[in-house]
Amino acid sequence: MELTHAEKRLLAGEQGNATRKAMEILVALGAIYGADRLIPVSSVQVAGVSYDNLGEAGLEFLSEMAASGGKAKVLTTLNPAGMDIENWKALGIDPEFAQQQERVIAAFTRMGILPTCSCTPYLFGNLPHYGEHIAWAESSAVCYANAVLGARTNREGGPSALAASLTGKTPNYGLHISENRRPTLTVRVVTKLTGTRDFGALGMALGRLIEARKVKAIPLIRGISGATVDELKSFCASIATYGGLALFHMEGITPESVLYSTPDDTLAITRDNMEESIRSLHQPGMEEVVDFVSLGCPHLSLDELKRVAELLKGKKVTKTLWITTARPIKRMADQIGYTSIIEAAGGVIAADTCCVVAPIKGFFHLVATDSAKACYYAASKQELKTRFVSFEEAIQEALR
Ligand code: F3S
Repeated sequence: MELTHAEKRLLAGEQGNATRKAMEILVALGAIYGADRLIPVSSVQVAGVSYDNLGEAGLEFLSEMAASGGKAKVLTTLNPAGMDIENWKALGIDPEFAQQQERVIAAFTRMGILPTCSCTPYLFGNLPHYGEHIAWAESSAVCYANAVLGARTNREGGPSALAASLTGKTPNYGLHISENRRPTLTVRVVTKLTGTRDFGALGMALGRLIEARKVKAIPLIRGISGATVDELKSFCASIATYGGLALFHMEGITPESVLYSTPDDTLAITRDNMEESIRSLHQPGMEEVVDFVSLGCPHLSLDELKRVAELLKGKKVTKTLWITTARPIKRMADQIGYTSIIEAAGGVIAADTCCVVAPIKGFFHLVATDSAKACYYAASKQELKTRFVSFEEAIQEALR
């Protein structure tokens, strides 16, 4: 990979050890993927924030980077942490864990990274425009940025996203290059979709079909008449989880879909495919009792918080109900009164975190959620049984 004189000086340590290490990470990545050069990025989203995933080694790496002068060169936001930073006691988080998590956040903040702790940075200010080169980690947000916004990012890991933040650069390969964004598979959706659960089920069904073909694909999806921001973020989380996708095109909905002709290779998704996906996340049979309801994977928008407040107004939940969202969105919901309605009903607003990255293994038995991604990780990481329900059914389950 060709480096400029200025980049060579960064690699030689001119701006300190943290920037040197960051450059080493980028140069190694560039060599692996055959990048020709580094390109500037204007926005970064860093994942790997929960102490539950990072552990002591991760915390040490971050503390070292902060102590050796690492500073964000571009707008950089953070993925969810392992707890609500202001209200962790209400979630039953262990004080020792809380202390380590606070050290993680302090290291990021010292590097000039915004501790927004959310997987939906595009809902509150980290909103790249069409064609903008960025370096994002967090699979659902990567998919949203590439497909829905038309920005350009590879699916970064925690260290490579941090390296991009500290240098303002990323290697030029993969989805930064126009040719690699071309669709390779036409997908006909021959059923009507409504709500976040349906879009999640579509992402899951399509993701599984693509995985089964064992060939990487960028689908051009046809047959969907409209989709809200919330439905698209649900779809992105799901297709990234079940199909490993970082980009899709949706006719009439995503901006790059107009650029390409329809690929010959075609598959259809029917209601039966989606129902099969939904059924597979109903473990075990319907007779077992839900003891945990979680909405907010990806983090809820202000509009979704409004819907939760409307559904809970004047009622009382009988199960643990987590409503997970970004702190900036929670602040808006505080101002307009949604959070007080939710809390009066007994719901817990868990900002900064989610049911996947919080250390809650063993707390609950069976979770109901409208998120296919949350079901996947609740089962594999938190060892929970899952019930994949609609948004409204999740609230009804919390009230039952
Ligand atoms: Fe976000 Fe956690 Fe889901 S990071 S996409 S809410 S697993």
